[in-house]
Parts: sequence; structure tokens; C-alpha cells
Amino acid sequence: MSKKITKICCIGAGYVGGPTMSVIAQKCPNIKVTVVDLNQARIDAWNDPDTNNIPVYEPGLPEVVAEARGRNLFFSTKVDEAIAEAEMIFISVNTPTKTYGTGKGMAADLKYIELCARQIARVSTTDKIIVEKSTLPVRTAEAVKSILQNTGNGVQFQILSNPEFLAEGTAIEDLHAPDRILIGGDPTEEGQEALNALVDVYANWVPRERILTTNLWSSELSKLTANAFLAQRVSSINALSELCEHTGADISEVARSIGTDSRIGPKFLNASVGFGGSCFQKDILNLVYIARSYGLQQVADYWEQVIIMNDHQKRRFGNKIIKTLYNTVSGKKIAFLGWAFKKDTNDTRESPAIFVADDLLNEEANVSVYDPKVSEKQILGDLNYLHTRTESKNSELITIFDNAYDCCKGAHAIAIMTEWDEFKTYDWEKIYTNMTKPAFVFDGRNVVDRKKLLEIGFKVYTIGK
Ligand code: NAD
Ligand code: UGA
Repeated sequence: MSKKITKICCIGAGYVGGPTMSVIAQKCPNIKVTVVDLNQARIDAWNDPDTNNIPVYEPGLPEVVAEARGRNLFFSTKVDEAIAEAEMIFISVNTPTKTYGTGKGMAADLKYIELCARQIARVSTTDKIIVEKSTLPVRTAEAVKSILQNTGNGVQFQILSNPEFLAEGTAIEDLHAPDRILIGGDPTEEGQEALNALVDVYANWVPRERILTTNLWSSELSKLTANAFLAQRVSSINALSELCEHTGADISEVARSIGTDSRIGPKFLNASVGFGGSCFQKDILNLVYIARSYGLQQVADYWEQVIIMNDHQKRRFGNKIIKTLYNTVSGKKIAFLGWAFKKDTNDTRESPAIFVADDLLNEEANVSVYDPKVSEKQILGDLNYLHTRTESKNSELITIFDNAYDCCKGAHAIAIMTEWDEFKTYDWEKIYTNMTKPAFVFDGRNVVDRKKLLEIGFKVYTIGK
């Protein structure tokens, strides 16, 4: 037997909470889903009458929100109210890398999780199922449970772990047809009842055989493990891309050759300027920190290498630009096509573009940027956040354009930082004509037709070729 859920609350209306809850509401019209956040501007944007203005850019998401919002999907800042009425509460707040104290730069900062747990305990007057949706260190559920049980009003809480595996840019596809849903719970009767209640929610659209259930700790650790494996593949192919450049092997051909081995598989073998995004680095650092905290030095060192390789790949791309442009980029215009950490998202967290731009600005380059979905404010904010130089110096050295042709006009070089599809269809002859010669293209994503660009007259550098 499991309890039938009719009211869900999700704390955190970000890149995970927003899309995930929108799809639950779309697929479960009989469940009232309320997504709450402290950030008023974010909630206002989720409630914008024009669903194209919602705060997360994700193909297909405006349509899902349009279908469910106001019917059984609500966005609000009234956190206490939503907690009080819900039977099931998802915690989907951010868990960034700590920037202070013990574990600084490595461990996950769990202060937002703890605040949620304390708030839930304070407000709740009826039994609740608490679902960890955020990515968390293994054994976090123990701390959440302790807070709830020791500060609550005597009501019963069951804790589940239900990590999210969606990738940005394909979130709606991933949520509609997930490879699997993972739910971890306590082996007790009450724990299993809670677990089954969540299984029933997903079973509204996900085949049962794709809903995996485990104990809490396996579920928490599986999320970190999945991201570590994925990031490791990118670092592995990127490591070999450098060897390709020295040997005449071509990384695309190598990737195709190994990817046809069914044990290896073809996905996630695109060499690049490095992985970005809010999670790969944060989650691996967290894994490394956890391993070290158990004294597992070799385990920690093994996974840390994935990050070291990624930092190397970002740095070597910037260095390649500088070296190729006759060892100086001072006063030269370098046009960045793309700023987001991957295509089809407006998210720029940990985007390689930020770090490559920062290196070039250190060399006093003038960087111009065009990204189809990222705003000027966001780009400047990303650079200012690094505190490498003053904000006014950043504004002086960087110029943002709303189209690629103007962005590239007069440039000495173009750096392709994101694999946006539109870059493939540009009039590259026109771009070439308007550039300073020799005109260089540094393709950090293997996205444009190298042969065609060479024929036009560009000098082309492509990662791994
Ligand atoms: P995000 O920063 O976009 O959103 C988190 C939201 O939580 C913010 O809007 C913030 O204002 C809100 N918040 C924080 N504390 C709060 C509180 N006490 N009460 C109410 N609201 C609060 O983060 P995200 O990208 O959605 O990630 C959330 C979690 O999901 C992280 O643990 C992340 O590792 C994990 N995750 C992210 C992705 C992804 O693609 N971004 C995928 C899988 C898992
Ligand atoms: C990743 C995982 O794919 C999701 O399963 C997970 O839920 C999520 O992290 C998370 O926990 O946040 P995401 O970061 O959104 O999703 O996007 P990915 O498609 O994984 O790309 C991550 C980075 O790796 C991007 O910068 C991308 O360009 C890069 N990448 C990816 C490559 O350089 N090469 C590849 O072959 C694949």
C-alpha cells in the first residue's frame, strides 16, 4: 500500500525544480504542484503571461508550462504556505561548492539544504515525505533526518533520495522519456510506503521497469557517480585530442572508431574546449572531498585527474589562440561565438568561454561576444564574478553583440565556444570578407565545416585535428 499523493511542493524554482515540476504537473493533472523560491524576480518570471519569458530557456518548456500553469502548476514565494499543505516536498535548491571554511573549494555547501530542512520542520503540522532532488553528498539524508526529527512538531517525516539526471538543453526530452528514475528510501515499512508513493507519481508516464529503487546511500552516491563517469569520458577524449594534434590522428575518427564498440558506445565522445555547467566540476570535487574524508587518497586522486585534465584543456585552447596570433593578442579583436556552456541553454555556469575570455583579457585582447541566448548582463556578471580585474576594465575590454556578423567584423580571430546549430549555417564567406587577415577560426566544438572554411581562406584550428 502507498499513500496517494495529491499535493506536491518543490523548494527551488531553478534549472531543475522548474522543468521537473512542470513535467510532473503536466503528466499528473490530479496532483497540485507548487514550486516555491525565495527569489521574487525568478518567481515573477515563471509567472510571466508570455511563457517565452520564463527564466529557464529549454526547448519545449514554454509549451509544458502553458499547459499546466494555473491548472495544477503554481509558482510562488509563499514557502511556508506551500510546505504546510503538501504531502510530498521536493528539495531542489542549489548545492554549490563551498567558498569558505573547511572543505573550501571542494565540499558541497549544504547550508541551503539545512535551511530547507529547518523550515519544513518548523512549519509542518502533518506527516510529510521529503524528497532530496538536489545532488547531495552520500549520507546527507542522515543529517536531514536528524534536523527534521529533532526540531519538528512531532509529525512523521520519511526521507527519499530522487536525484535528477536531466541534461540542460534536452531537459524536456529527458524528463518525458528518462533512461531511468532513481529512488532511494529506507528499508523500513514506512520508508517503503513513502518510496512507493513516489514510484506511483512517476508511473503516470514512466514505464515501471525504468523506475529503479535502492537504499538511500546507493541513490545519493549513484548521482555523483553518474556525473563523474560522464565527465571522465569528456576528459578522456579531450586528453587524446591533444595527442591527435601531435600525431596526425583525427579525434573525430578516433571517437567514431571506438564508439562503434558496443561496450564503449558512441555518446559523449565529442572533444571540446572543456566541459562546463554547474554540476560536473562541483560534483567531482565533492566526490574527491568525500573520498579524502574517508582517507581514500588513491580514489580521490583518481577522480581529481578528471578536473585537472579539464582545466588543462580550457587553458591550452586560450594559449593556442595567443601562440597562433604571433604570441600577442594585445589590442586584437577576438570574436567569441557562443558563451553558454552548451547549446540550447541560457545557462553559463562554469562555461569554458568565461575562463578562456579571462585568459585573453589578461593578455589585453579585445573580446567581442555573440550568444543567441545569453544576455550582456550575464556575460559581464560572469567575468566580474572572477574578480580578475576591475568591473570597468572588463566593460572596457569586452563588447557584446546581438548578431554574429557584427561580432566578427574586423576581428583577427573567431573562437567558437558553444556548438549552437546556427553557427553551421552562417555565410562564412561574408564573415571572412569583413575580418582582418589572416583570418583565424579556432573551433572549440568541432562544429563548423573545416574543409569549407579552409577553402574560403580561413586559417583553421580545430581541437584534436
Ligand atoms: P538553481 O540555482 O538554478 O536553483 C536553485 C533555486 O533554489 C534558486 O532559485 C534559489 O533561489 C532557490 N533556493 C535556495 N535556497 C532556498 C530556500 N531556502 N528556499 C527557497 N528557495 C531557495 O540550481 P539548479 O541548477 O536547479 O540545481 C539544483 C540542484 O539540482 C543542485 O543540487 C544541482 O546539483 C542539481 N542538479 C542540477 C542539474 C542541472 O542541470 N542544472 C541537473 C541535475 C541535478
Ligand atoms: C550533466 C549530465 O549530463 C546530466 O545527466 C546531469 O543531470 C547534469 O549534468 C547535472 O547533474 O547537472 P549538463 O551539465 O546539463 O548535464 O550537460 P551535458 O550534456 O552533460 O554537458 C556538460 C558539459 O560537457 C558541456 O559543457 C558539454 O559541452 C560538455 N561535453 C559533453 C563535451 O565537451 N563533450 C561531450 O561529448 C559531451
